[in-house]
Amino acid sequence: MPVEFSSSARTWTLSGGNTSYVLHQDEEDRLLNLYWGPRLPGNALHFDPSDYSSFASFDLPVSVLPLELPVCGSGWYGVPAVGVRDSSGNEVVDLRIVSVETLPGKPALPGLPSTYAEDISEAETLSVLLRDIVIGLEVTARYTVFASSGAVTRSLTLANRGPGPLTVTSLLSASVPLWQGGLDAVHLNGAWARERRVIRVPVREGDFRISSARGASGHEENPFLALCERNTDEFSGSVWSASFVYSGSFHAFCHTDIFGHPRLSVGMNPEVFSWSLSPGETLTSPEAVMIFSDAGFNGMSQLYHSLYRTRLARGFWRDRSRPVLLNSWEGVYFNFNEEKLLAVAEKAAEIGVELFVLDDGWFGRRDSDNCSLGDWVENPVKLPSGLSGLSEKVHRLGMQFGLWFEPEMVSPDSNLYRMHPDWCLHVEGRPRTQARQQLILDLSRPEVQEYIISAVSAVLSSSCIDYVKWDMNRNMTESFSAALPPERKKETQHRYMLGLYHVLETITAAFPKILFESCSGGGGRFDPGMLFYMPQTWTSDDTDAAERLKLQYGTSFVYPASAMGAHVSAVPNHQTGRTVPLKLRGDVALGGNFGFELDPGRLSPEELEEASQMVAKVKSLRDLTRTGTFWRLVSPFDGQATAWAFVSGDRSTFLLCAYCVLSSPNSAPLRIHLLGLLPDAWYKAEDGRLYSGAALMHYGYTVPLRGDFSSFVSLFKSV
Ligand code: DGJ
Repeated sequence: MPVEFSSSARTWTLSGGNTSYVLHQDEEDRLLNLYWGPRLPGNALHFDPSDYSSFASFDLPVSVLPLELPVCGSGWYGVPAVGVRDSSGNEVVDLRIVSVETLPGKPALPGLPSTYAEDISEAETLSVLLRDIVIGLEVTARYTVFASSGAVTRSLTLANRGPGPLTVTSLLSASVPLWQGGLDAVHLNGAWARERRVIRVPVREGDFRISSARGASGHEENPFLALCERNTDEFSGSVWSASFVYSGSFHAFCHTDIFGHPRLSVGMNPEVFSWSLSPGETLTSPEAVMIFSDAGFNGMSQLYHSLYRTRLARGFWRDRSRPVLLNSWEGVYFNFNEEKLLAVAEKAAEIGVELFVLDDGWFGRRDSDNCSLGDWVENPVKLPSGLSGLSEKVHRLGMQFGLWFEPEMVSPDSNLYRMHPDWCLHVEGRPRTQARQQLILDLSRPEVQEYIISAVSAVLSSSCIDYVKWDMNRNMTESFSAALPPERKKETQHRYMLGLYHVLETITAAFPKILFESCSGGGGRFDPGMLFYMPQTWTSDDTDAAERLKLQYGTSFVYPASAMGAHVSAVPNHQTGRTVPLKLRGDVALGGNFGFELDPGRLSPEELEEASQMVAKVKSLRDLTRTGTFWRLVSPFDGQATAWAFVSGDRSTFLLCAYCVLSSPNSAPLRIHLLGLLPDAWYKAEDGRLYSGAALMHYGYTVPLRGDFSSFVSLFKSV
């Protein structure tokens, strides 16, 4: 049983994979966290208050207890998991356990993205009901443990059962006290076009915090934070991590207490969130996924990959090979008409592309990024036979047809804005801050949600559309809905996300066979929340292959290859100006959902031949790269070389990928130690040579890499 109760110790041990998470009900009915780490037997721990005492009168007992749901006002001084202000303005909360139940499987979180179990044997859920009797607040803390991975999820539901209104001021989906001191924090930091760089810093006394207040998870920080031992590396050592299944503003932090014990937290960012709970109302927090690994970062990532690929992503495309696509953006930008698009599409079909995607510029009067967002009607000058005509012609070339939208936005120069100037996020009497010459629709409003659903659905029903790229190209400003009363204004950002999730659920359910890819100026909303609705995300607007090594490596800390869009683009690269060989561009892009982002009409006959061989290779490898176990072997953050491998589930096959950005003279050849192979198997390389699995792992494989921007991608099969 994943959840074991010990009545003598009053503990619940949630176990799965190699992990246990132990909760305890203390003498005063508080919920404590006794442990999160390597797997323990069900009744292994007994709470001993003397393990948590301080002799200083300044440190009230509650301030040093390992509270699972810390609350403020009576002696605990950190950021509370549940912060609530009552109608008199007091912010004191005291939560005591009322009842506990165990449920098979995993209940869904209505209106929110979440991981799920397909069969009740996969997971078990512990539901703890706590109450503050003074203000009438009830909190249901739901924990699910997945049997195979040991991933633990937590979400809180707050209910106002009292007579007066309450205001939620702090809401943390995870807030876990750890016992180990001297840890490092690892997070995925960046900016537009250089997202998710792996950053590691020592955790010191006090606070370490990352956040977004932008109304999106953002390019700058990903909703993920890990703590690890100083000696943890990719291959060994302990990591405790939390990933937030949410696409809006968040914060994640580690507070180290007076004894050097860190607490790992993730939740709603109080800079841009509060919530009024009228009597009888409830509020459910997004879910946090907590993963422990004692097999280093690779061990952690592999657990995330399998959970997010198979039990977060959903729908028709979850377990299917993704089509090789060509996206029109970098090839033609806004400068196209049907004739030009068909010329691109014909060449794409010749090299084996399966899906032609028309990016921005097909609607309204949009010949640059200064107008027409919101007017989702095709431009008859550019597309004289309409989207339906174009999509049919593309299908006749033997390809599927995909289309770009940016449905959450409105251009001031658009019919939609002229008709509904009040539908955007704005504050009366203040300028409406534009970014990329556009404003954001107020998705907290039901009429706006309905407009988006009907406008997008009308386009999707009117033509043969097989794929949608759902883009979002600016951060929020004036994020206070005009439709909300003053005391609810700070709910706007979260209400926007709930509105967006409703829109996405409705549209993806109505068009179940369409492959949806999310995007936000590249990877500005690459998060688990979006993956629940769309199984893949455009990784970054930076398509430079050398930069992509870091992008894909960093992204893989949490997200599987099946979630990453990866395209071959033209040289010199449009973001960096760098020119690298086509081979490198292809060898990097095959590590994700492969596509092109160029005009193939500009490739030479030799390059077209190379591209078509590349596509054939991708088609033969894409199931392995989508489902195989991903091993990071050499980090691009440590030098000029990068290596990773995809190992098939039965370990009979692996794909080794190695890259060199800039070569250096008189350096040792790159010898790579493979991992996760069958030690007794013999693997045949593409050149026919045989290698022992044990030797590949312990002696290593010397990669024949030579020269700047060189790459080596090779399949090995056991014989
Ligand atoms: C930002 C995206 O990341 C690009 O790929 C492209 O779709 C543009 N938007 C179009 O405006």
